[in-house]
Amino acid sequence: MSCSTVTVGLGTQSYQVTIGAGALQADIPWMTSALAGRRCIPIIDETVFALHGETVLRRFSDGGILLDRPVLVPSGERAKDFAEFGRLLDQVLSRGIDRRTVLIAIGGGVTGDLVGFAAATLLRGIDFIQIPTTLLAQIDSSVGGKTGINTAFGKNLVGAFHQPIRVCCDIGFLDTLSPRDLRAGYAEMVKYGLIDDPDFFDWLEKNGPALLAGNADLRADAIHHCVAAKARVVAADEKETGPRALLNLGHTFGHALEAEAGYTGTLLHGEAVAIGTIMAFDLSVRLGLCPAADAVRIRQHFLATDLPVDAKSFGFDPARLLAHMGKDKKAVGGTLVLILARGIGGCFIARDVAADDVLAVVQAG
Ligand SMILES: NC(=O)c1ccc[n+]([C@@H]2O[C@H](COP(=O)([O-])OP(=O)(O)OC[C@H]3O[C@@H](n4cnc5c(N)ncnc54)[C@H](O)[C@@H]3O)[C@@H](O)[C@H]2O)c1
Ligand SMILES: [Zn+2]
Repeated sequence: MSCSTVTVGLGTQSYQVTIGAGALQADIPWMTSALAGRRCIPIIDETVFALHGETVLRRFSDGGILLDRPVLVPSGERAKDFAEFGRLLDQVLSRGIDRRTVLIAIGGGVTGDLVGFAAATLLRGIDFIQIPTTLLAQIDSSVGGKTGINTAFGKNLVGAFHQPIRVCCDIGFLDTLSPRDLRAGYAEMVKYGLIDDPDFFDWLEKNGPALLAGNADLRADAIHHCVAAKARVVAADEKETGPRALLNLGHTFGHALEAEAGYTGTLLHGEAVAIGTIMAFDLSVRLGLCPAADAVRIRQHFLATDLPVDAKSFGFDPARLLAHMGKDKKAVGGTLVLILARGIGGCFIARDVAADDVLAVVQAG
Protein backbone atom coordinates (compact mmCIF):
# COMPACT_ATOMS: atom_id res chain seq x y z
CA MET A 1 0.00 0.00 0.00
CA SER A 2 1.42 3.39 -0.88
CA CYS A 3 1.22 6.35 1.45
CA SER A 4 -0.76 9.51 0.95
CA THR A 5 0.18 13.02 2.02
CA VAL A 6 -1.63 16.11 3.27
CA THR A 7 -0.02 19.53 3.54
CA VAL A 8 -0.94 21.79 6.43
CA GLY A 9 -0.65 25.16 4.71
CA LEU A 10 0.63 27.72 7.18
CA GLY A 11 3.02 29.82 5.07
CA THR A 12 6.59 29.42 6.29
CA GLN A 13 5.33 27.05 8.99
CA SER A 14 3.70 24.64 6.53
CA TYR A 15 4.40 20.95 6.96
CA GLN A 16 3.53 17.58 5.51
CA VAL A 17 1.56 14.74 7.07
CA THR A 18 2.39 11.30 5.65
CA ILE A 19 -0.34 8.68 6.06
CA GLY A 20 -0.48 4.94 5.50
CA ALA A 21 1.12 1.58 6.13
CA GLY A 22 4.89 2.13 6.01
CA ALA A 23 4.64 5.91 6.45
CA LEU A 24 7.66 5.95 8.76
CA GLN A 25 9.81 4.15 6.20
CA ALA A 26 8.51 6.51 3.51
CA ASP A 27 9.49 9.55 5.60
CA ILE A 28 13.04 8.46 6.35
CA PRO A 29 14.61 10.19 3.28
CA TRP A 30 13.01 13.49 4.33
CA MET A 31 14.17 13.00 7.92
CA THR A 32 17.71 12.14 6.81
CA SER A 33 18.07 15.50 5.15
CA ALA A 34 16.03 17.58 7.64
CA LEU A 35 17.80 16.17 10.67
CA ALA A 36 21.36 16.12 9.33
CA GLY A 37 23.83 17.53 11.84
CA ARG A 38 21.18 18.19 14.50
CA ARG A 39 20.73 16.59 17.91
CA CYS A 40 17.50 14.55 17.75
CA ILE A 41 15.91 13.34 20.94
CA PRO A 42 13.16 10.71 20.63
CA ILE A 43 10.62 10.97 23.44
CA ILE A 44 8.54 7.81 23.57
CA ASP A 45 5.48 6.62 25.49
CA GLU A 46 6.78 3.71 27.59
CA THR A 47 4.14 1.26 26.29
CA VAL A 48 4.93 2.20 22.70
CA PHE A 49 8.64 1.86 23.46
CA ALA A 50 8.10 -1.70 24.72
CA LEU A 51 6.06 -2.64 21.65
CA HIS A 52 7.71 -0.71 18.83
CA GLY A 53 10.82 1.02 20.21
CA GLU A 54 13.36 -1.29 18.66
CA THR A 55 11.74 -1.28 15.21
CA VAL A 56 11.28 2.48 15.15
CA LEU A 57 14.83 3.23 16.28
CA ARG A 58 16.18 0.76 13.71
CA ARG A 59 14.29 2.56 10.92
CA PHE A 60 16.15 5.75 11.85
CA SER A 61 19.56 4.11 12.22
CA ASP A 62 19.12 2.20 8.93
CA GLY A 63 18.42 5.57 7.32
CA GLY A 64 21.71 6.87 8.70
CA ILE A 65 20.03 9.12 11.28
CA LEU A 66 21.84 9.27 14.59
CA LEU A 67 19.30 9.66 17.40
CA ASP A 68 19.99 10.46 21.04
CA ARG A 69 19.14 7.89 23.67
CA PRO A 70 15.32 7.89 23.97
CA VAL A 71 13.53 9.57 26.85
CA LEU A 72 10.55 7.53 28.06
CA VAL A 73 7.33 9.08 29.34
CA PRO A 74 4.70 7.21 31.37
CA SER A 75 1.60 5.98 29.55
CA GLY A 76 -1.76 7.58 30.18
CA GLU A 77 -3.33 11.00 30.71
CA ARG A 78 -1.54 11.43 34.06
CA ALA A 79 1.68 12.13 32.12
CA LYS A 80 0.23 15.46 30.99
CA ASP A 81 0.84 17.15 34.34
CA PHE A 82 3.31 19.71 35.69
CA ALA A 83 5.46 17.15 37.50
CA GLU A 84 5.95 15.03 34.38
CA PHE A 85 6.46 18.13 32.24
CA GLY A 86 9.19 19.34 34.61
CA ARG A 87 10.86 15.94 34.59
CA LEU A 88 10.82 15.87 30.80
CA LEU A 89 12.37 19.35 30.53
CA ASP A 90 15.12 18.37 32.96
CA GLN A 91 15.90 15.18 31.08
CA VAL A 92 16.07 16.98 27.74
CA LEU A 93 18.14 19.86 29.13
CA SER A 94 20.55 17.42 30.77
CA ARG A 95 21.46 16.24 27.26
CA GLY A 96 22.81 19.68 26.39
CA ILE A 97 20.53 21.05 23.68
CA ASP A 98 20.76 24.02 21.34
CA ARG A 99 18.27 25.87 19.16
CA ARG A 100 18.70 23.35 16.33
CA THR A 101 17.81 20.37 18.53
CA VAL A 102 14.75 18.43 17.37
CA LEU A 103 12.38 16.52 19.65
CA ILE A 104 10.58 13.51 18.17
CA ALA A 105 7.30 12.65 19.90
CA ILE A 106 6.43 8.97 19.51
CA GLY A 107 3.17 7.96 21.15
CA GLY A 108 -0.46 8.97 21.46
CA GLY A 109 -2.03 12.35 22.05
CA VAL A 110 -0.66 12.50 25.58
CA THR A 111 2.95 12.18 24.44
CA GLY A 112 2.36 14.53 21.51
CA ASP A 113 0.78 17.25 23.66
CA LEU A 114 3.47 16.94 26.34
CA VAL A 115 6.44 16.86 23.96
CA GLY A 116 4.94 19.60 21.78
CA PHE A 117 4.64 21.86 24.82
CA ALA A 118 8.22 21.05 25.83
CA ALA A 119 9.35 21.95 22.29
CA ALA A 120 7.32 25.18 22.46
CA THR A 121 8.99 26.29 25.67
CA LEU A 122 12.56 24.91 25.59
CA LEU A 123 14.90 27.72 24.54
CA ARG A 124 11.69 29.63 23.64
CA GLY A 125 10.83 27.17 20.92
CA ILE A 126 12.63 24.34 19.14
CA ASP A 127 11.48 22.05 16.32
CA PHE A 128 9.58 18.85 16.90
CA ILE A 129 8.24 15.96 14.84
CA GLN A 130 5.07 14.02 15.59
CA ILE A 131 4.98 10.27 15.10
CA PRO A 132 1.48 9.52 16.40
CA THR A 133 0.75 5.92 17.36
CA THR A 134 -2.94 6.02 18.32
CA LEU A 135 -5.94 6.58 16.08
CA LEU A 136 -6.86 9.70 18.03
CA ALA A 137 -3.41 11.18 17.63
CA GLN A 138 -3.23 10.31 13.92
CA ILE A 139 -6.53 11.97 13.04
CA ASP A 140 -6.52 14.86 15.44
CA SER A 141 -3.99 15.76 18.10
CA SER A 142 -0.75 15.45 16.09
CA VAL A 143 -1.93 17.93 13.46
CA GLY A 144 -2.53 21.61 14.15
CA GLY A 145 0.01 22.63 16.77
CA LYS A 146 -2.08 22.65 19.94
CA THR A 147 0.17 21.52 22.76
CA GLY A 148 -0.29 21.54 26.50
CA ILE A 149 -0.83 19.91 29.85
CA ASN A 150 -3.65 19.52 32.38
CA THR A 151 -4.10 21.13 35.80
CA ALA A 152 -6.36 20.30 38.74
CA PHE A 153 -8.66 23.00 37.34
CA GLY A 154 -9.18 21.22 34.06
CA LYS A 155 -7.79 19.89 30.79
CA ASN A 156 -5.20 21.62 28.63
CA LEU A 157 -5.36 24.84 30.62
CA VAL A 158 -1.62 25.44 30.21
CA GLY A 159 -0.19 25.20 26.73
CA ALA A 160 0.95 26.87 23.53
CA PHE A 161 0.35 26.82 19.81
CA HIS A 162 3.49 25.30 18.34
CA GLN A 163 3.42 23.53 14.97
CA PRO A 164 5.42 20.36 14.31
CA ILE A 165 7.76 20.31 11.29
CA ARG A 166 6.46 16.91 10.14
CA VAL A 167 3.75 14.42 11.10
CA CYS A 168 4.10 10.76 10.23
CA CYS A 169 0.92 8.67 10.62
CA ASP A 170 2.02 5.07 10.18
CA ILE A 171 -1.10 2.95 10.50
CA GLY A 172 1.00 -0.10 11.36
CA PHE A 173 1.14 1.21 14.94
CA LEU A 174 -2.61 0.80 15.27
CA ASP A 175 -2.33 -3.00 15.10
CA THR A 176 -1.19 -3.12 18.72
CA LEU A 177 -3.59 -0.50 20.07
CA SER A 178 -6.19 -1.80 22.53
CA PRO A 179 -9.74 -2.01 21.14
CA ARG A 180 -10.83 0.47 23.82
CA ASP A 181 -8.25 3.09 22.77
CA LEU A 182 -9.09 2.46 19.12
CA ARG A 183 -12.79 3.13 19.78
CA ALA A 184 -11.94 6.25 21.81
CA GLY A 185 -10.06 7.58 18.78
CA TYR A 186 -12.95 6.59 16.56
CA ALA A 187 -15.24 8.93 18.52
CA GLU A 188 -13.07 11.84 17.32
CA MET A 189 -13.30 10.47 13.78
CA VAL A 190 -17.10 10.55 13.92
CA LYS A 191 -16.78 14.17 15.05
CA TYR A 192 -15.51 15.22 11.60
CA GLY A 193 -18.68 13.87 10.01
CA LEU A 194 -20.96 15.49 12.56
CA ILE A 195 -19.39 18.95 12.26
CA ASP A 196 -19.84 19.61 8.54
CA ASP A 197 -19.52 16.40 6.55
CA PRO A 198 -22.74 14.33 6.64
CA ASP A 199 -21.51 12.12 3.77
CA PHE A 200 -18.56 11.08 5.90
CA PHE A 201 -20.91 10.21 8.75
CA ASP A 202 -22.93 8.05 6.29
CA TRP A 203 -19.68 6.41 5.20
CA LEU A 204 -18.72 5.71 8.81
CA GLU A 205 -22.12 4.19 9.54
CA LYS A 206 -21.41 1.73 6.73
CA ASN A 207 -17.67 1.21 7.18
CA GLY A 208 -16.93 2.05 10.84
CA PRO A 209 -17.29 -1.49 12.17
CA ALA A 210 -14.95 -2.96 9.51
CA LEU A 211 -12.49 -0.11 10.07
CA LEU A 212 -12.47 -0.83 13.80
CA ALA A 213 -12.10 -4.55 13.13
CA GLY A 214 -8.81 -3.89 11.32
CA ASN A 215 -9.37 -3.16 7.63
CA ALA A 216 -6.18 -1.27 6.70
CA ASP A 217 -7.50 0.34 3.50
CA LEU A 218 -10.51 1.77 5.30
CA ARG A 219 -8.29 3.02 8.11
CA ALA A 220 -5.87 4.73 5.73
CA ASP A 221 -8.73 6.34 3.74
CA ALA A 222 -10.55 7.58 6.84
CA ILE A 223 -7.39 8.91 8.50
CA HIS A 224 -6.47 10.77 5.30
CA HIS A 225 -9.99 12.23 5.15
CA CYS A 226 -9.83 13.47 8.77
CA VAL A 227 -6.30 14.87 8.47
CA ALA A 228 -7.28 16.72 5.29
CA ALA A 229 -10.31 18.18 7.11
CA LYS A 230 -8.21 19.19 10.09
CA ALA A 231 -5.53 20.72 7.84
CA ARG A 232 -8.16 22.88 6.11
CA VAL A 233 -9.52 24.13 9.42
CA VAL A 234 -6.08 24.82 10.89
CA ALA A 235 -4.91 26.64 7.75
CA ALA A 236 -8.00 28.86 7.93
CA ASP A 237 -7.87 29.54 11.68
CA GLU A 238 -4.61 28.47 13.30
CA LYS A 239 -5.15 30.14 16.68
CA GLU A 240 -8.84 29.24 17.04
CA THR A 241 -10.32 32.71 16.83
CA GLY A 242 -13.14 31.36 14.64
CA PRO A 243 -14.16 28.11 12.92
CA ARG A 244 -11.43 25.91 14.46
CA ALA A 245 -13.59 25.95 17.62
CA LEU A 246 -16.02 23.62 15.81
CA LEU A 247 -13.48 20.82 16.40
CA ASN A 248 -14.38 21.17 20.07
CA LEU A 249 -17.75 19.51 19.45
CA GLY A 250 -18.52 17.47 22.56
CA HIS A 251 -15.37 18.74 24.29
CA THR A 252 -16.77 21.30 26.75
CA PHE A 253 -18.95 18.55 28.21
CA GLY A 254 -16.19 15.98 27.68
CA HIS A 255 -13.46 17.97 29.42
CA ALA A 256 -15.75 18.44 32.45
CA LEU A 257 -16.38 14.68 32.56
CA GLU A 258 -12.64 13.99 32.32
CA ALA A 259 -11.80 16.48 35.07
CA GLU A 260 -14.43 14.89 37.33
CA ALA A 261 -13.15 11.40 36.53
CA GLY A 262 -9.68 12.60 37.57
CA TYR A 263 -7.61 11.48 34.54
CA THR A 264 -7.28 8.00 36.03
CA GLY A 265 -8.23 5.96 32.99
CA THR A 266 -11.83 5.48 34.19
CA LEU A 267 -12.92 7.58 31.25
CA LEU A 268 -10.66 8.03 28.22
CA HIS A 269 -10.60 11.35 26.38
CA GLY A 270 -12.38 9.94 23.32
CA GLU A 271 -14.99 8.26 25.52
CA ALA A 272 -15.65 11.56 27.29
CA VAL A 273 -15.95 13.20 23.86
CA ALA A 274 -18.49 10.54 22.79
CA ILE A 275 -20.68 11.26 25.81
CA GLY A 276 -20.12 15.00 25.36
CA THR A 277 -21.17 14.76 21.70
CA ILE A 278 -24.40 13.04 22.68
CA MET A 279 -25.00 15.81 25.24
CA ALA A 280 -24.33 18.52 22.65
CA PHE A 281 -26.86 16.97 20.27
CA ASP A 282 -29.39 16.37 23.08
CA LEU A 283 -29.06 20.03 24.02
CA SER A 284 -29.52 21.04 20.38
CA VAL A 285 -32.70 18.94 20.25
CA ARG A 286 -33.93 20.44 23.55
CA LEU A 287 -33.42 23.95 22.15
CA GLY A 288 -35.44 23.05 19.06
CA LEU A 289 -32.43 23.41 16.78
CA CYS A 290 -31.90 19.81 15.68
CA PRO A 291 -34.24 16.98 14.65
CA ALA A 292 -34.47 14.37 17.41
CA ALA A 293 -33.93 11.66 14.80
CA ASP A 294 -30.36 12.90 14.18
CA ALA A 295 -29.47 12.61 17.87
CA VAL A 296 -30.94 9.10 17.90
CA ARG A 297 -28.86 8.14 14.84
CA ILE A 298 -25.62 9.24 16.52
CA ARG A 299 -26.49 7.42 19.74
CA GLN A 300 -27.19 4.26 17.71
CA HIS A 301 -23.89 4.54 15.88
CA PHE A 302 -21.95 4.96 19.13
CA LEU A 303 -23.79 1.98 20.61
CA ALA A 304 -23.05 -0.06 17.48
CA THR A 305 -19.34 0.76 17.85
CA ASP A 306 -19.32 0.10 21.59
CA LEU A 307 -18.78 3.69 22.71
CA PRO A 308 -20.33 5.09 25.92
CA VAL A 309 -23.37 7.30 25.37
CA ASP A 310 -24.30 8.48 28.85
CA ALA A 311 -22.58 9.73 31.98
CA LYS A 312 -25.09 8.22 34.41
CA SER A 313 -23.19 4.96 34.83
CA PHE A 314 -20.16 6.96 36.04
CA GLY A 315 -22.15 8.63 38.85
CA PHE A 316 -21.11 12.21 38.12
CA ASP A 317 -22.67 15.12 40.01
CA PRO A 318 -24.38 17.39 37.41
CA ALA A 319 -23.78 20.61 39.38
CA ARG A 320 -20.06 19.87 39.63
CA LEU A 321 -19.92 19.12 35.91
CA LEU A 322 -21.54 22.46 35.16
CA ALA A 323 -19.04 24.19 37.45
CA HIS A 324 -16.19 22.54 35.51
CA MET A 325 -17.71 23.68 32.25
CA GLY A 326 -17.55 27.25 33.51
CA LYS A 327 -13.79 26.80 33.99
CA ASP A 328 -13.27 25.35 30.55
CA LYS A 329 -11.16 27.73 28.51
CA LYS A 330 -13.89 27.96 25.90
CA ALA A 331 -16.07 29.76 28.46
CA VAL A 332 -15.84 33.50 27.81
CA GLY A 333 -16.78 36.05 30.50
CA GLY A 334 -19.00 33.57 32.37
CA THR A 335 -21.06 32.71 29.29
CA LEU A 336 -20.83 29.13 28.11
CA VAL A 337 -19.60 28.83 24.55
CA LEU A 338 -20.78 25.52 23.13
CA ILE A 339 -20.77 23.77 19.80
CA LEU A 340 -24.39 22.98 18.93
CA ALA A 341 -25.97 21.45 15.83
CA ARG A 342 -28.82 22.04 13.42
CA GLY A 343 -28.41 18.41 12.42
CA ILE A 344 -25.73 15.92 11.45
CA GLY A 345 -23.13 17.96 9.54
CA GLY A 346 -24.61 21.26 10.71
CA CYS A 347 -22.60 22.36 13.74
CA PHE A 348 -22.11 25.96 14.77
CA ILE A 349 -20.65 27.99 17.62
CA ALA A 350 -23.33 29.08 20.12
CA ARG A 351 -22.33 31.82 22.55
CA ASP A 352 -25.57 32.38 24.42
CA VAL A 353 -26.62 29.05 25.91
CA ALA A 354 -28.50 29.34 29.21
CA ALA A 355 -26.91 27.40 32.06
CA ASP A 356 -30.34 25.98 32.99
CA ASP A 357 -30.65 24.20 29.64
CA VAL A 358 -27.12 22.84 29.92
CA LEU A 359 -27.81 21.61 33.46
CA ALA A 360 -31.03 19.91 32.32
CA VAL A 361 -29.14 17.96 29.64
CA VAL A 362 -26.30 17.05 32.01
CA GLN A 363 -28.86 15.86 34.59
CA ALA A 364 -30.65 13.76 31.98
CA GLY A 365 -27.38 12.32 30.60
N1 LIG B 1 -3.52 18.73 20.69
C1 LIG B 1 -4.72 18.49 20.19
O1 LIG B 1 -5.16 19.15 19.24
C2 LIG B 1 -5.53 17.38 20.77
C3 LIG B 1 -6.68 16.94 20.09
C4 LIG B 1 -7.38 15.85 20.61
C5 LIG B 1 -6.93 15.23 21.77
N2 LIG B 1 -5.83 15.70 22.39
C6 LIG B 1 -5.29 15.04 23.61
O2 LIG B 1 -4.89 13.72 23.25
C7 LIG B 1 -4.90 12.93 24.44
C8 LIG B 1 -5.52 11.58 24.14
O3 LIG B 1 -4.73 10.94 23.18
P1 LIG B 1 -4.73 9.35 23.00
O4 LIG B 1 -6.10 8.88 22.95
O5 LIG B 1 -3.80 9.07 21.90
O6 LIG B 1 -4.19 8.85 24.42
P2 LIG B 1 -2.78 8.31 24.93
O7 LIG B 1 -1.65 9.06 24.39
O8 LIG B 1 -2.91 8.22 26.40
O9 LIG B 1 -2.73 6.83 24.34
C9 LIG B 1 -3.69 5.91 24.74
C10 LIG B 1 -3.04 4.63 25.29
O10 LIG B 1 -2.54 3.86 24.21
C11 LIG B 1 -1.20 3.48 24.46
N3 LIG B 1 -0.60 3.40 23.13
C12 LIG B 1 -0.24 4.40 22.31
N4 LIG B 1 0.10 3.93 21.11
C13 LIG B 1 -0.03 2.58 21.17
C14 LIG B 1 0.16 1.54 20.24
N5 LIG B 1 0.51 1.79 18.98
N6 LIG B 1 -0.06 0.27 20.66
C15 LIG B 1 -0.47 0.01 21.92
N7 LIG B 1 -0.68 0.96 22.84
C16 LIG B 1 -0.47 2.24 22.46
C17 LIG B 1 -0.66 4.53 25.37
O11 LIG B 1 0.38 4.00 26.15
C18 LIG B 1 -1.89 4.84 26.23
O12 LIG B 1 -1.98 3.93 27.29
C19 LIG B 1 -5.70 13.72 25.47
O13 LIG B 1 -4.81 14.23 26.43
C20 LIG B 1 -6.31 14.86 24.68
O14 LIG B 1 -6.49 16.02 25.44
C21 LIG B 1 -5.12 16.74 21.92
ZN1 LIG C 1 -10.38 15.63 21.56
